[in-house]
Amino acid sequence: MRDAIEKRFSVRGYTGESLDGEKIEKIKFLINKYNEQSGLDIQFVEDGSKAFDSARKTYGMFRNVRSVIVFKGNAELENLDEKAGFYGEALLLDLVDMGLGTCWVGGTFDKESFSCPENERIVIVMTVGEYQKQNMKEKFILAQLHKKRKAWETRIDADTDIPDWVKEGIEAVVLAPSAVNSQKPHFNYKNGELSVNIPDDHSMTKVDLGIAKYHFICTSGGSFTWGNNAVYTK
Ligand SMILES: Cc1cc2nc3c(=O)[nH]c(=O)nc-3n(C[C@H](O)[C@H](O)[C@H](O)COP(=O)(O)O)c2cc1C
Repeated sequence: MRDAIEKRFSVRGYTGESLDGEKIEKIKFLINKYNEQSGLDIQFVEDGSKAFDSARKTYGMFRNVRSVIVFKGNAELENLDEKAGFYGEALLLDLVDMGLGTCWVGGTFDKESFSCPENERIVIVMTVGEYQKQNMKEKFILAQLHKKRKAWETRIDADTDIPDWVKEGIEAVVLAPSAVNSQKPHFNYKNGELSVNIPDDHSMTKVDLGIAKYHFICTSGGSFTWGNNAVYTK
């Protein structure tokens, strides 16, 4: 499994300092690459701190946020939300490889502080930056949260023995971030066909679905069709 998948956790406490020029260039290079692949209009905002200033909107959970990546795209783009999740998670894991902290943020920020062309829609944002070493209390809270990760067996229904490549893919999905830690994407392995679905009961479900698909294919290869009840091809 990719190191970044195992190491990643949501970082909410940053140093507040600007990223160095080389790292910013690399992030912009990666964003260009994923924009070309996806048709999204992902944007790096060097100082997006304003969106995290209001304790009312952030519930005081974030500290010293500076740089923010905004995931937006043409409102008519098919599977816009899922693509934000899929390509965004690809970018997020690259940022983890660079030693940076990241956190997807769907709700607890001020959306109005980012500009967006009229034909586009902001799906979600991601904080990025050098981060503060966690203190004992934060480490404890994180360990408690990660104990709530569901076992891989509960994320799949199967009518036969589950092959190793499916198990390994789902183990990577277990380590994926999800909105309010809901861990909803669910797999089926029936009649030799693998598929994934998510109950459509939250504004962030499609982002979660894209993230889960990325973790799976990043680990076991292959691809999924876009959309819900997506079918896998090796
Ligand atoms: C689509 C999505 C939206 C999220 N929105 C928020 C948010 O608004 N505020 C926040 O503090 N964390 C947010 N998170 C982070 C989740 O709370 C976090 O992934 C989850 O609790 C699991 O913890 P971990 O990422 O450390 O494994 C979001 C994650 C995802 C995938």
